[in-house]
Amino acid sequence: MRAINLPLFWKFAFTIIVVVFIFGTINVYILWKSVYQSFEKEIDKRCVVLSSIISEKALTPIVYDDVVSLYNILDEMQRSDKSIAYIFLTDNNNQILAKTFDSGVPASLLKANAVQAHQYNIEVLNIEHYQYNTIRDIAYPILNGDVGSVRLGLVEDTIRIEIREATKSLIFMILLFLATGLLGAFIFSYLITSPIKIISQQAQLVKLDSINTGILEIEFPRYKRLFSFYFHDELDILVSKFREMLIRLNQNYSELQKTRDSFVQAEKMAAIGTLVAGIGHEINNPISGIKNCAIRIAKKPENTEQTLKYIGLIQDATDKMENVTRHLLDFSRTQETEFVLINPIEILDNSISLIAFKAQKARVVINREYDKGLTIKGSSNQLEQVILNFIINSLDAIAEKNIKDPEFRGEINITLRKRNTNILLQVEDNGVGIPEKTSRKLFDPFYTTKEAGKGTGLGLYVSFNIVKEHNGKIYFESKEGHGAKFTIELNEDKGNGVKI
Ligand SMILES: Nc1ncnc2c1ncn2[C@@H]1O[C@H](COP(=O)(O)OP(=O)(O)OP(=O)(O)O)[C@@H](O)[C@H]1O
Ligand SMILES: [Mg+2]
Repeated sequence: MRAINLPLFWKFAFTIIVVVFIFGTINVYILWKSVYQSFEKEIDKRCVVLSSIISEKALTPIVYDDVVSLYNILDEMQRSDKSIAYIFLTDNNNQILAKTFDSGVPASLLKANAVQAHQYNIEVLNIEHYQYNTIRDIAYPILNGDVGSVRLGLVEDTIRIEIREATKSLIFMILLFLATGLLGAFIFSYLITSPIKIISQQAQLVKLDSINTGILEIEFPRYKRLFSFYFHDELDILVSKFREMLIRLNQNYSELQKTRDSFVQAEKMAAIGTLVAGIGHEINNPISGIKNCAIRIAKKPENTEQTLKYIGLIQDATDKMENVTRHLLDFSRTQETEFVLINPIEILDNSISLIAFKAQKARVVINREYDKGLTIKGSSNQLEQVILNFIINSLDAIAEKNIKDPEFRGEINITLRKRNTNILLQVEDNGVGIPEKTSRKLFDPFYTTKEAGKGTGLGLYVSFNIVKEHNGKIYFESKEGHGAKFTIELNEDKGNGVKI
């Protein structure tokens, strides 16, 4: 399952909101429940207090059959409390002694409640066709129920209005609580996540192959700086460690870069060693030519026609030597870091011209097949080094085959092709090929199968790094015993129409 990208800020905010909501709701429910229960208890208490007062006051008039006084007591009580819906007194035979009703007491009401086991009893009544919806009715015994009972009804509606009012302020409290919680959640999330966000943004800027010291300064929002002056927390430790890590990484990276550069140079020098023998020969031939010309001129200095002919030959020979030494010098130069637009044919031809004599001596045929009009951006010196290493490796692979079969004719095909937007430079040989088990180690530094003093094992490692710096790919295909094909794949760069 693909993970959804949810920023830390929202994770924090969402969690806090859920927690605030759940705990807020539970708290408010418990609060509302206890308010409701205490309201109910309060009403019950009011019922008991009112009816006990009536029972006490009514006892003597009942005993003396003083109906007028009983009515006065009931009227007085009802006037004193607006929530009293009715009061009536009954004797032990459930006969009405006094009542606040103008007409008779409804029969249903009379039967709705009664004293139970000499104890008062409270019922909530819903009486149809009566002016109030809900009545809290108490049946209270007078003198332990020996004389009769008081029935008193309190209007629940007014009480319910009071509860509704209380509920309203509770709801207001909930909303206030949630709003404060939400605000708190956002502020808290912001405070926690914004420094982390800055660190993560900085971390994203870190490219592991090119550390930039500019990103070592991490800017925190003002509040963070304000607080961190007094209080240091885990984030400060994280930042300082992160900074330390970058500095170390930076140091290590530049050391690695230096090592790599020295590898490139070492490998280049090793290649020059391989080339020197051939180049010596290439210079030796024109030198003997020049020497011959000089001898001939010295013999017949008066023959200007002949002298001019030999001078032409001497010029050709010096051009040839100049060409060879210039290539060698170009190649041995320490690498340029600046990338320019280059024609890949030049890279291939220059590399071939440096190795041509060695190939010729080994009787290896070099074939070329180039697609024309292509340009790439890079360092020609570095790329020549890669191609030269491919060709030297091919010559070595063919030489190895020649040991077993001296009649075998080696062949190297050098091709330049365009594939989509990429340019492929390939060196293919029919040498010994690469065994499957060693193929994974080929680009490792110091991996070589050649005898001591012949190969350093840096060729392909250096080539790999050079191609990587050119944002390209390097790979090979091989069939053991039948040869190998090495490819570098680079992006075509037309350089916005610049002609080279
Ligand atoms: N064309 C090839 N055919 C067969 N084996 C190859 C070929 N190219 C490379 N190899 C193998 O890969 C190994 C590593 O090559 P690499 O160029 O890195 O080092 P090297 O040629 O041994 O030494 P150096 O290039 O430093 O002189 C070689 O020793 C060889 O075994
Ligand atoms: Mg090599």
